[in-house]
Amino acid sequence: MIIKSLDHLKSISNKIAEKVSNGDYIFLIGEIGVGKTTFTRNFINYLQKKKGVKQTEVLSPTFNLLYEYEIKNLKVMHYDLYRIKTSRELDELGIFNENVRSIKIIEWPELVKTKVKNRLEIYLSYSDRDNERKLSILGHHKWKHYNENKL
Ligand SMILES: Nc1ncnc2c1ncn2[C@@H]1O[C@H](COP(=O)(O)OP(=O)(O)OP(=O)(O)O)[C@@H](O)[C@H]1O
Ligand SMILES: [Mg+2]
Repeated sequence: MIIKSLDHLKSISNKIAEKVSNGDYIFLIGEIGVGKTTFTRNFINYLQKKKGVKQTEVLSPTFNLLYEYEIKNLKVMHYDLYRIKTSRELDELGIFNENVRSIKIIEWPELVKTKVKNRLEIYLSYSDRDNERKLSILGHHKWKHYNENKL
């Protein structure tokens, strides 16, 4: 489907945020600058507003690899794996050690080979127009029947 504008992206991320719970994974796949962090910022700010907690800055974890957000009963862990080049480095991050149940949003998940359950893969790509993007999704387990018609 086509994302027509930043506002449209916001409405899409809100709908996905409505369905999310601890234990979910959102993989964001797409080129540099396509909108992965923008999606995540909208998503986190929406949950903060919904849960009545103060909206915070949501910065790109390009250098820190991870930023975490406690939103009442939800914990959101926002990863950016762009700088991770080997599966050993990836293992050291311990993304899949399920000692803390949380929502994990992962930019640049290409190195991840684990077929984690409750995973929503979101594919973003550029369109001919500046503020337009293309989006497709692929859900697994809980998200299996989730599709673009719901957005
Ligand atoms: N419809 C749209 N959806 C998403 N982003 C858009 C849209 N229209 C314009 N933009 C702009 O595109 C840019 C997306 O940047 P963003 O940092 O979110 O990309 P990214 O995919 O996270 O990049 P990186 O791979 O470097 O982490 C922002 O400046 C945003 O305002
Ligand atoms: Mg980003």
